[in-house]
Amino acid sequence: MTNKLKIGIIGVGGIAKTHMPGWEESPYAEVVAGSDVSEAALKAWGEKYDVKHVTTDAQTLINDPNIDVIDICTPNNFHAPLAIAALGAGKHVLCEKPLAPTPDAIREMIAARDAAGKMLMTAQHQRFTGIAKAMKAEIETGVLGNVYHARSWMLRRAAAPTRPGFILKDQATGGACIDIGVHILDLTLWFMGNPQPIAVTGVARTELAHLPGAFSIWGGAIPPEMNVEEFAAAFVRFDNGATLMLEVSWLLHHDTPVEDMQMWLYGTGGGSHYPRGEFFQSNYATQQHYNRAIKRTQDIRPPHAQECIEFAEAVVQGKPSPVPAEQSLQVQTILDGVYRSQIGGGEIRL
Ligand SMILES: NC(=O)c1ccc[n+]([C@@H]2O[C@H](COP(=O)([O-])OP(=O)(O)OC[C@H]3O[C@@H](n4cnc5c(N)ncnc54)[C@H](O)[C@@H]3O)[C@@H](O)[C@H]2O)c1
Repeated sequence: MTNKLKIGIIGVGGIAKTHMPGWEESPYAEVVAGSDVSEAALKAWGEKYDVKHVTTDAQTLINDPNIDVIDICTPNNFHAPLAIAALGAGKHVLCEKPLAPTPDAIREMIAARDAAGKMLMTAQHQRFTGIAKAMKAEIETGVLGNVYHARSWMLRRAAAPTRPGFILKDQATGGACIDIGVHILDLTLWFMGNPQPIAVTGVARTELAHLPGAFSIWGGAIPPEMNVEEFAAAFVRFDNGATLMLEVSWLLHHDTPVEDMQMWLYGTGGGSHYPRGEFFQSNYATQQHYNRAIKRTQDIRPPHAQECIEFAEAVVQGKPSPVPAEQSLQVQTILDGVYRSQIGGGEIRL
């Protein structure tokens, strides 16, 4: 394809590098420019990927008429202002998770998207694994009946990202709750068919991070300046009567080498377990139980690459956003409710 989408990346750190294989493989896209506040990071990235157009001024990329897509890979608090500016300049936007740290910021992004008539997609890469795609397709056949309860968790043992963009409120807004809670919650709502959340009770706290000697396997001692939560738990009610219990932590004393990410769905027709890809049903006539396991669950390619490929395909072929901002608004409304419940000490109506 000659008229490939021209991609400009803002924030060329860790996650941007996982997008590169997708942009390189896509028949519809090519990376032409990058921006970062760190000159050193920008120089190293430009040399590694042979991208000549690099600048520390993000606005230069946003204003560049030759760029079609802005891929936002900065810390959380810069997502909304950059996306709104990019959409305002007529660009399509792929934006890392969380789409923005507050529901109001996401509403502003949706308004900017609608005014521009461009694509806005959240980079929820967990939706693009083989197992997630297979389970979503299976659940969409109705095999679970009415899903009335879910249990989801994403728990890490001594595995907090210790970079400033994750542990300082002025860059991240929140900690584990919105950093990794956003992954399992997005996946859970997607599997449930995105019912509308109406109430949440939750806690978002720091219990271990500031104990003497507390550490992360990804960065040594937890920096004392960390001022976001490491742990969150919540109970959520939805408009269709369904409920969800959610648990998230970066540092829990939990029996897992690094990360334990699981989801149980319970419906009138059956239950399911992610990521095992198992489905549990009963025949009430014979009083028998049946377990089935999905077997074709291999990834097409690494999910961060797959999301970029599907984004570019959707833009070029005029398809809907593979991860609509409205669904990220539901996710962030719940997570924001957890923070408000921690402060208020009770149930928050959403
Ligand atoms: N989908 C995933 O699995 C996943 C994993 C990690 C991070 N993320 C998300 O990606 C984003 C970035 O995380 P990361 O791990 O790449 O962090 P990182 O610290 O490795 O990289 C962030 C980069 O952004 C740059 N930056 C900071 N402020 C900027 C600004 N205002 N303008 C331009 N550049 C700026 C930094 O200099 C750095 O190079 C976060 O929102 C995070 O939640 C997603």
